Amino acid sequence: MTKKNPTFALFNPETEGLTPEHAAKELKILAEEISRHDKLYYQQDEPEVTDAEYDILRRRNTAIEQHFPQLVRDDSPTSKVGAAPSSGFSKVKHSVPMLSLGNAFDDEDVAEFLARIRRFLGLGKDERVDIFSEPKIDGLSCSIRYEKGVLVQAATRGDGAVGENITDNVKTIACIPHQLSGSGYPDILEVRGEVYMRRDRFQELNTNQASIGGKAFANPRNAAAGSLRQLDPSITAARPLDFYAYAWGEVSDPLGQSLTEARSRLESWGLPINPGELCASLDDVLKFYRGVMADRPDLDHEIDGIVYKVNRLDWQERLGFVSRAPRWAIAHKFPAEQAITRLNEITIQVGRTGALTPVANLEPITVGGVVVSRATLHNRDEIERKDVREGDSIVIQRAGDVIPQVVEVLLDKRPENSTPYPFPTHCPECGSQATQEDGEVVTRCTGGLICPAQAVERLKHFVSRNAFDIEGLGDKQIKFFFEQGLIKSPADLFKLAEKDKNSLIPLRNQPGWGRQSAEKLYSALETKRTIGLDRFIFGLGIPQIGQATAKLLAKTYATLDRIEEVARQVHDPESDALQELLAIDGIGASMAGDLIAFFGEPHNQEVVAALKEQLTIEEFILEVSNNSPVTGKTVVFTGKLQTMSRDEAKAKAESLGAKVAGSVSKKTDYVVAGADAGSKLKKAESLGVTVLTEEDWHELVG
Ligand code: IVH
Repeated sequence: MTKKNPTFALFNPETEGLTPEHAAKELKILAEEISRHDKLYYQQDEPEVTDAEYDILRRRNTAIEQHFPQLVRDDSPTSKVGAAPSSGFSKVKHSVPMLSLGNAFDDEDVAEFLARIRRFLGLGKDERVDIFSEPKIDGLSCSIRYEKGVLVQAATRGDGAVGENITDNVKTIACIPHQLSGSGYPDILEVRGEVYMRRDRFQELNTNQASIGGKAFANPRNAAAGSLRQLDPSITAARPLDFYAYAWGEVSDPLGQSLTEARSRLESWGLPINPGELCASLDDVLKFYRGVMADRPDLDHEIDGIVYKVNRLDWQERLGFVSRAPRWAIAHKFPAEQAITRLNEITIQVGRTGALTPVANLEPITVGGVVVSRATLHNRDEIERKDVREGDSIVIQRAGDVIPQVVEVLLDKRPENSTPYPFPTHCPECGSQATQEDGEVVTRCTGGLICPAQAVERLKHFVSRNAFDIEGLGDKQIKFFFEQGLIKSPADLFKLAEKDKNSLIPLRNQPGWGRQSAEKLYSALETKRTIGLDRFIFGLGIPQIGQATAKLLAKTYATLDRIEEVARQVHDPESDALQELLAIDGIGASMAGDLIAFFGEPHNQEVVAALKEQLTIEEFILEVSNNSPVTGKTVVFTGKLQTMSRDEAKAKAESLGAKVAGSVSKKTDYVVAGADAGSKLKKAESLGVTVLTEEDWHELVG
C-alpha cells in the first residue's frame, strides 16, 4: 500500500492539513538536508542539487515555520547563512555580518516586497520609493578591507559571521586595486561584492585542465570558488577571476545618502561596479528584470536573477534585517531550466541517526551551464509517490543556477522490463533490518552501534564546527581513520597521538598525510581537550538536541555530572527532576525523551565515560551579548505612532532584547502610547504599568 505522504509534498506550498507531528518531522528532515547542501555548496564547492531544488527546500521550510511558529527548531535553516568556513585558511571575524538575501520567485512576490517596504516605513501612496536594480552575479561573495586606501584584508563570507582569510588570493585578481585611487575615501572601507569567472575564461580553464589531466569544473561558480580557495596563491593567480562590487561592510565615514551616490564614489576610487538601473515603480523594476533576462544568454558571465535594493540609505537603515536577510533588498530569481535525462541507478546513503536517503544517480547532463549527475530522492514515500524507477527518463529542473530536482517521470519512455524500485529492507552498510515507523517518513537502519555508516557519521558530527571544531579532520580523514580501525568512538580521537608513537607506519607516512599535517592535527586535538559543556553535549549527537538546546541544558544544569544525574532520575515520572527538565522553555516531551533514552543506553554511557577520562569539560558561562535598557522587558505598543510604524517599532524593540506583547497585563513593563490610545492605555494605568510617550521610548533606547 502506498502511504499518504504529507511530508515531502515539495511542490505543494500548502501547509494546511499538515499535523504538528508531521510538520515537526518534516522540519527536522529539512534542517538536516539544507545543512548538508550548504556544506556541499559552500565548503566543498560540489553542490548535489540545483539552486532551484535548494530554494524549494528553503521555501517549504519557511512555509511550515510560518504555519507552526512553535515548532521552529534550534538548528532552523532560517537563522543560518551558508556554512561555517572549512579549515586550511585562518579565520576572519566580519565586523559587520555578511548576510544573505530573501528570494522573490514571481511578480507578486516583488509587489509584496515593495508593499512591505511602504507599510514598514509608513509611507503615503504618493511617496516615491526609488529602487536600484542590478543583476545577481553567480559567484562567491567576498569582503575586501581597505585601510587608508590600502588593501589590507580579504575574506570569504563563510557562515556570515566568520569567513576565511583569502587576502593573498584576492590580491592576484587583476581588476581589484591594491591601492584606491582618487581621494575622499574613508580611512576604513570594507567593500563587498562577488568574485566570478567569465564564461569564456571558464571554458578555457576547463580545456586547460583537461589537457593536463586535471578535474573539470562543473560551472563557472564552482571554478571561481575552487580557484579562490587555493592554499597556494600562485594557483589563484593563474586562474582568470573578476570582481564586481555591490555593497559594503564597515566604513569609518558614510558613503553618501543613497546607493547610487555610494556606488559612484566606489567607482571613483577605482573599484569595478556591478552595472544596474534606478527604477521608480513596480513596472519599472519588472521591465528591467525582463530586459536582463532576454540578454542573459549573451552576457559574458552567469547571473541567476536580479537584486532590488531601496536606494535611500536612511530607509535601508530603518528597514534593517530580519534573521538572515535585509528588509530593504530582495533577489528576484530567474525561472527554472529543465532537461531530460536517464536515471541510471538509485543508491542509498546512511546518515548519523541511521536514516536511509535514496539518491538518484543520473546520466550527466548540462542544465543551464551546470553538469548535473545526482539528485536526492528524499525518502521511500517520495520514490513511491513519483514512481521513480531505475532506467526511467526523467525531467529534471534547475532554477537560477545550481541544483536539480526530479520534476516527473516520462512514463511513455519507460523501458518495458521496468520494475518498481525495491526500497531496501536492510541497511546497505551493515545488513541490519531497516524499518519505517508508523507515521514516520524516514526509513532507519536498526543496526545502531554496529552500523559503520552511522558510526562514521556520528564521528563526523563530533568533530564538526559547532561541536568540537577540530581542524584538519574533515569527512575524508574521519573515514580514513575509521577504515584503518584507529577510531571507533569519539574518545579514540584523543588517543590517536599516543597510539601513533608506537605505530609501525606513523601517520605522517600514510597516504595523504605528511609531517606537518599530522602534527597540526595532533595539536588541534590537544587544544580541544578542554571543552565547553554546551559543545560537548551537542557533539554527542543526541537526536533532537541541536546547538541551542545543548546550550539550554548547559545553562540550566552547569555540569555534565548533573545532566547525567537528571537523566537517571527522570525515569520516575513523579520526580522533580522531570518537572524541572520539562519546565525549561524550549524543551518538550519528545526532546526530553531522546535525551533520557540516550543517557539510558549502556553503550552511550561508556562513550561518555571514556570521553570524561580524556577531557576537561567546562561549566557553561552565559554570554550577555544584548545589554540594552529594555533587554528582557515586556513592551506593548498602542495607539497611532508618529515616528515609526508598528512593525518597525516591534522589530527595533526585539532587536534590543525586549519581548513585544499584544495585550497589557501585570507582567508588562512598558506601554508605549501614541495618539488616540484606548483601552490598553487605560488598562496600563489601572495596573500601574509605566506608560511612555514615543519620545520617552526613543530616549530610553537611545
Ligand atoms: S546585495 C545584505 N547584490 O547573492 C546582502 N548580492 O543570495 C547584500 N549577490 O550574499 C547583498 N549579486 O553574495 C547583492 N548584485 C548583488 C549580488 C549579490 C550576487 C550574492 C551575495 C549574497 C547572495 C544572496
